[in-house]
Amino acid sequence: VPDLPTAIGLLGGGVIGGGWAARFALNGVDVRVYDPDPDAPRRLEEILAGARRAYAKLTILPLPVEGGVTFVTSPEEAATGVQFVQESAPERVELKQRLLAAASAAAGPDVVFCSSTSGLRPSLLQAEMAHPERFAVGHPFNPVYLLPLVECCGGDLTAPPTIDRAAEIYRALGMHPLVLRREIDGFLADRLLEALWREALWLVNDDDATVEEIDDAISYGAGLRWAIMGTFLTYRLGGGEAGMAHFMEQFGPALALPWTKLVDVPSLTPELIAKIVGQSDAQARGRSVAELERYRDDCLVALLQALRAQDAGAGATLAAWERRLLDVVPGAGGTPGLGEASADGGPPAPLAVYVREIPPDWIDYNGHVTESRYLELFADATDALLRYVGVDAAYVGSGNSYYTVETHISHLGQLYAGDRVQAITQVLGWDEKRLHLFHTLVRVGEEEPVAMGEHMLVHVDASAGRAAPVGDGVRGRVAALAEAHAALPRPERSGRRIAL
Ligand SMILES: NC(=O)c1ccc[n+]([C@@H]2O[C@H](COP(=O)([O-])OP(=O)(O)OC[C@H]3O[C@@H](n4cnc5c(N)ncnc54)[C@H](O)[C@@H]3O)[C@@H](O)[C@H]2O)c1
Repeated sequence: VPDLPTAIGLLGGGVIGGGWAARFALNGVDVRVYDPDPDAPRRLEEILAGARRAYAKLTILPLPVEGGVTFVTSPEEAATGVQFVQESAPERVELKQRLLAAASAAAGPDVVFCSSTSGLRPSLLQAEMAHPERFAVGHPFNPVYLLPLVECCGGDLTAPPTIDRAAEIYRALGMHPLVLRREIDGFLADRLLEALWREALWLVNDDDATVEEIDDAISYGAGLRWAIMGTFLTYRLGGGEAGMAHFMEQFGPALALPWTKLVDVPSLTPELIAKIVGQSDAQARGRSVAELERYRDDCLVALLQALRAQDAGAGATLAAWERRLLDVVPGAGGTPGLGEASADGGPPAPLAVYVREIPPDWIDYNGHVTESRYLELFADATDALLRYVGVDAAYVGSGNSYYTVETHISHLGQLYAGDRVQAITQVLGWDEKRLHLFHTLVRVGEEEPVAMGEHMLVHVDASAGRAAPVGDGVRGRVAALAEAHAALPRPERSGRRIAL
């Protein structure tokens, strides 16, 4: 598992810098931000809140303890005490050069610097830096905390290991680093997006379409496909069984017409700008930017999860990030200790390995947490316990796992949005193929149980699809836990049946 830095610096904390702050902090990294705008902390806190909300839906896995975000008053301070710096200041060459020069002079020579620039060449940006060899472009996409793509590109003076390290850090953050072969204006994505945008501006300019019609032409068709396969793989299928060669033969000649306006740009007259702004206002139908951001994030989360189920595109990146979380987060995010260690120094009895804050959208029409979420809480608590006994990505990857075969939930109280709950877990018994668990769910700091869950798990050989003895390594930890828990009083509700 490649290491993330423990602390990073950000130069600029606007839309993109704020998105970086959220991605790093939610991955457990401390963040130092330099942004001269006095309003920057407020805006950044809003981006962080949006990101927390999105991550709570994105993954059921516990995240690392969130990194702290501190505002500092100079670029030098942002680059001190950190192992990585990401620059996301306004897109002006001299400003970026000055900032990078000042920050790099203060940073140790091993600190890697990346710029979020949308299209400025890295050779230009690194020109004034101390140790320019540790600089590269890492061009992200908005919202940075959800979209995985980051284009990586070095300049004339960049040392190749700089790009390797930047890519490794981005990958550990759950991103998809795309390393460019050489530096080109606009990199890959913006070169493509600019061509599309130019055509869109022509269509509005010529009154051929409104901004909303153009957006519909993308999101109802090609946009859906693009999340799965890009233009080339899509067109391969468009060629039918004869594939790409046939597609080129059939549609290639049309390129000579051409439909597009090529490199001409409509002049951005006040009239054209007013037309675009007016149509864009109409398209937004009164929804604020914050509302539209939540809508966008919810849809992106839904798409990412759908793609994860297919192991496709950005969904595969999400799955890889979750496998990493399994390995780096031992218990749960914010675990307040594992419980009391037993007198002889053995494992804690009982064990508290799972904590979660109740998200607002878990509330049902009765105003409290809906019942299916209790099963989700217990399932996550079981996962946390399994990680504690050594069921990590490597163990699951080798074809071993535990599956739950029976569950009994007792609902004893109500939970509300924002409650922090904790599962207190007791191993009631085990043998080579089974594990009998009892979770008591309480609000952190309280003793009154809110719910209890009793579960029987069977150890499986997933590839053979049948029960199999627990693997070495995990066996010892399960046995030690069961032994430590055998001395605990048996929960009164264990073994209950439902009956009148
Ligand atoms: N917005 C996007 O969709 C997008 C996508 C990818 C990359 N980018 C790139 O990211 C960078 C930042 O863009 P943005 O959209 O976040 O802009 P932004 O205007 O939202 O943020 C820029 C921030 O930099 C701050 N700033 C101004 N002068 C500064 C200085 N001297 N030192 C440090 N900070 C300073 C501003 O106060 C502001 O908060 C640009 O290079 C842009 O090309 C933007």
